[in-house]
Amino acid sequence: MRTNRKPLYQRKAFIIIMILFLGFVGIQFVRPDVPNPPVTGDLEVPADVKAIVQRACYDCHSNNTNLRWYDKIVPVYWGVASHIKDGRADLNFSEWNKLAPADQKAKLWESINQIISGAMPLPSYTAVHTEAKVSPADLAVLKNYLASMVHNKPADTAAINAADKQYQHWEKNETAIAKLPTAANGIAYIPDYKNWQPISTTERFDNNTLRVIFGNDIAVKAIKENNIHPWPNGAIFAKVAWAQLQDKDGTTHTGEFKQVEYMIKDDKKYASTYGWGWARFKTPKMVPYGGANVLFTNECMNCHKPMAAEDFVFTLPIKH
Ligand code: HEC
Ligand code: HEC
Repeated sequence: MRTNRKPLYQRKAFIIIMILFLGFVGIQFVRPDVPNPPVTGDLEVPADVKAIVQRACYDCHSNNTNLRWYDKIVPVYWGVASHIKDGRADLNFSEWNKLAPADQKAKLWESINQIISGAMPLPSYTAVHTEAKVSPADLAVLKNYLASMVHNKPADTAAINAADKQYQHWEKNETAIAKLPTAANGIAYIPDYKNWQPISTTERFDNNTLRVIFGNDIAVKAIKENNIHPWPNGAIFAKVAWAQLQDKDGTTHTGEFKQVEYMIKDDKKYASTYGWGWARFKTPKMVPYGGANVLFTNECMNCHKPMAAEDFVFTLPIKH
């Protein structure tokens, strides 16, 4: 007996492929909306800077999202839509004028750090949109722009003397604080950091601060033993920032005390915040940053997140 029918397994394979295909077509209709809301205050920077930001960041951080056809294929599209939603919520260059000038500068500084660390633009995005990659030359343009926003006026002698006095006062630890201020997450100011070992110093080019990072004994021991992946429980960092003053000869002096920040390692107690307790105390009065709002730690975590492979610590210790 002859038959025209294909063998059973072939027919089965065909049916399965048809089902998959129809399923694929079907889910194309399941699409969240990605509207482009009106631009209310676009980023205003020199054209070369703007071109880089537009090319590398605007698809996710502006109201001028330009989706290519391959971005619109589900399920890729679902990822794209959620990146745009989250990206715009964190940083929107189309609503730039909603930020105060100091916050704009801080966001640009954070942006440059995110680029340097390779976190932004999202690598999954540049893998497909290769034109969005930020080259070392692009990065130099962005850094120069940020540096140019800082105007270095030489400070007068009185200001330098006053700052020196404050520095000596700080060194002698006579900031008589009766009750230790405490941040919303329960972390209290730790005066002892002044006796810890400096691990590194940095200058921040955008806002003229001079910073020293101190480590407590456990942190210093961990560095000596190269036991920093992860850092051991009990390790504490203190990062202190002073304003930076320049005298007429161009010599740098520490200016007024700005703030001290802590990261306290305890992978159980602080499990919900990357295993670190975060706190910042501002001005010589040590006012806890964040007020009563414990969510201030999100800001710390967002910025330190690109350093996940280094246990969220930026500072690579100098080898002793
Ligand atoms: C493909 C989408 C995409 C692109 C392109 C992209 N980002 Fe992002 N960005 C995100 C998402 C999503 C988040 C928030 C989620 C997260 O924390 O990872 C984010 C977060 C950020 C944050 C943190 C904001 C905050 O304060 O919490 C900064 C800064 C940032 N991006 C800068 C940039 C810069 C600068 C560029 C261009 C060089 C860029 N991004 C390109 C998707 C993108
Ligand atoms: C805008 C990005 C950003 C934010 C927000 C941020 N940090 Fe950092 N932090 C850094 C960078 C970059 C360094 C590396 C040292 C430097 O360049 O000053 C650092 C270093 C530190 C250090 C020294 C240890 C290390 O990682 O090198 C401590 C402690 C610290 N930060 C605490 C905090 C706390 C607490 C908060 C939140 C209240 C916070 N940081 C928010 C960017 C940030």
